[in-house]
Amino acid sequence: VVRGSVLSCLFFQLDASICPENCDCSSKNAIYCSGPHIKDLELLNLPCNMTEIHITNANISYLQDVFARMEELQHLILSSNNIALVSPMAFKGLGRLKVLKLLDNKLVELPPEVFDDMVQLQQLMIESNRLNSIEENLFDKLAGLQELYLNKNQLTALPSGVMKKLTKLRVLNLSRNYLAALPRNIFSALARLERLMLYINRLSSIESGVFDSLKELQELFLHSNNIHSIAPDAFHCLGKLRTLTLSRNRLQVLPSGLFLHLHNLSKLTLYRNPLKSLPEVLFGEMRHLGSLWLYHTKLSTIPDFVFSNLTNLELLVLSFNPELTVLPRNVFSGLNELRGLSLHTSNISSLPEGIFLSLQKLQNISLFDTRLEVLPRNLFHNLKDLQKVYLNSTNLQSLPADFFTALPELEEVVLDDNPWKCDCQILGFREWLQKSTAIIKNVPSLMCHSPLALQNISLVSLSIDDLECLAAPAPTLGPHAAPWLLLRPLSSSSGTWGLWMIPLPG
Ligand SMILES: *[C@@H]1O[C@H](CO)[C@@H](O)[C@H](O)[C@H]1NC(C)=O
Ligand SMILES: *[C@@H]1O[C@H](CO)[C@@H](O)[C@H](O)[C@H]1NC(C)=O
Ligand SMILES: *[C@@H]1O[C@H](CO)[C@@H](O)[C@H](O)[C@H]1NC(C)=O
Ligand SMILES: *[C@@H]1O[C@H](CO)[C@@H](O)[C@H](O)[C@H]1NC(C)=O
Ligand SMILES: *[C@@H]1O[C@H](CO)[C@@H](O)[C@H](O)[C@H]1NC(C)=O
Ligand SMILES: *[C@@H]1O[C@H](CO)[C@@H](O)[C@H](O)[C@H]1NC(C)=O
Ligand SMILES: *[C@@H]1O[C@H](CO)[C@@H](O)[C@H](O)[C@H]1NC(C)=O
Ligand SMILES: *[C@@H]1O[C@H](CO)[C@@H](O)[C@H](O)[C@H]1NC(C)=O
Ligand SMILES: *[C@@H]1O[C@H](CO)[C@@H](O)[C@H](O)[C@H]1NC(C)=O
Repeated sequence: VVRGSVLSCLFFQLDASICPENCDCSSKNAIYCSGPHIKDLELLNLPCNMTEIHITNANISYLQDVFARMEELQHLILSSNNIALVSPMAFKGLGRLKVLKLLDNKLVELPPEVFDDMVQLQQLMIESNRLNSIEENLFDKLAGLQELYLNKNQLTALPSGVMKKLTKLRVLNLSRNYLAALPRNIFSALARLERLMLYINRLSSIESGVFDSLKELQELFLHSNNIHSIAPDAFHCLGKLRTLTLSRNRLQVLPSGLFLHLHNLSKLTLYRNPLKSLPEVLFGEMRHLGSLWLYHTKLSTIPDFVFSNLTNLELLVLSFNPELTVLPRNVFSGLNELRGLSLHTSNISSLPEGIFLSLQKLQNISLFDTRLEVLPRNLFHNLKDLQKVYLNSTNLQSLPADFFTALPELEEVVLDDNPWKCDCQILGFREWLQKSTAIIKNVPSLMCHSPLALQNISLVSLSIDDLECLAAPAPTLGPHAAPWLLLRPLSSSSGTWGLWMIPLPG
């Protein structure tokens, strides 16, 4: 066994007999050491010519130069070791290193030249530390770097040239920091970047040009920032983008045409923004966009035709919009592939006739927890694939007899918690209910709400045979009239009123 003269490592053939304590040497080129009792790496007497070293869950506060000149080293994994300080010489001579993981330590800063010898490095993970600043030239020699993880640190700003040499970078994770702004040129060298994670930071605006060089970008994560403004052309160069997350920001408006050039987008999130309005032109053709989530906004209406370029959208979620009150007739125009539409928990009280005409493939629709009062008779009549309809907890007092007809796939209708008005107009609908109990959820819970005399009487058990429609004019109703029901005769097209009387149970 020869100890290298200037080195702290040993040249020897690893075998079980000389494997350092707390280490696993069972593979020829790799060594794994782990445990809090490892406090001093020198004492491990690591062999010099390993290609892989893993030291994890140890208790090393200062990383000295034990690895320096381990020229064979390709993977150095130093996760979760309590490291707070790194010697400027720590990685000297590691010209073949491909992967360096320093994640989950206590690093606050890194010496400016510490990575300078690692010219072949491909992956650098410094996530989950306490870095609060980065030297502008820290990564200057890492021309081959493909993945850089700086997420979960305490970075408040980045020097504008810090990425200038990273022309091969494919993945950059800067999420979970305190970044408040991005220098305009920060990403301008990253022509090969495919994934950029900026979520959970403190960005307040996205300026024009900042993403313009990212021609290969496929995923851009910007959710959970404080973004309140985005330049109209901010995303115009991102023709390959597939995923864009903008949810959980402070956007009240979106500039016209913001997503016009994102033709390859397949995922877009916009929910949890205090959006007050949408521009009339927002989306370009996006053949891969399958779902759009627009809940928890402050939208009060949505412009006609705004989704008309989303010809392959299958799911549109507009629920949990407490201020959404008006939907114009052509709002869903073009959504010929839509399968699911969620409009529940909103303020809509009516829907215009023909609003669902484009939605020939619609399967499921939720309209519960709204203020809907009346619905157009033919609202669902072209929706041959309709399977599930949620119309519970609305203000509907009645529905037309043929409201759900010609819907061969219908399998679940939820209608409970509505203030049904049990007059003659509801008889046709009640007949449909009686025939359709198999698909209606919770039939016994459908009750008359008015008139008072019939309150809490089950709607389906209101039988026409129990009723006696009198063509005679209604007698004057005195204080004892409560048990009597005033109904409009079913057959009456003339609109004359008749008195139907049924005894109340009990
Ligand atoms: C490391 O060096 C020893 C002794 O020179 C040699 O036997 C062994 O094969 C070397 N291991 C590697 C991975 O090069
Ligand atoms: C790590 O070492 C420090 C002293 O260097 C000690 O205070 C701490 O308790 C140790 N932690 C563990 C998990 O052993
Ligand atoms: C950011 O990086 C970490 C790996 O360090 C990963 O776990 C996380 O998923 C990344 N974020 C995204 C959106 O890929
Ligand atoms: C668009 O995305 C698809 C996969 O969703 C991919 O196969 C295709 O190459 C992308 N096109 C462009 C121009 O990036
Ligand atoms: C649809 O996209 C085209 C370009 O792809 C654009 O000119 C048009 O304004 C868009 N329409 C709407 C309603 O957004
Ligand atoms: C709901 O709509 C009504 C008008 O139909 C309006 O007066 C009310 O302010 C709206 N509620 C909310 C929360 O926007
Ligand atoms: C609609 O509901 C049916 C029945 O539960 C389900 O099989 C189908 O996947 C749903 N469709 C969509 C688009 O969610
Ligand atoms: C309406 O019915 C659906 C399906 O049963 C249920 O998930 C939802 O919570 C109901 N909404 C209300 C407000 O009761
Ligand atoms: C109907 O039921 C509700 C809830 O149980 C109750 O508050 C109401 O008084 C009942 N109405 C009549 C007329 O019994």
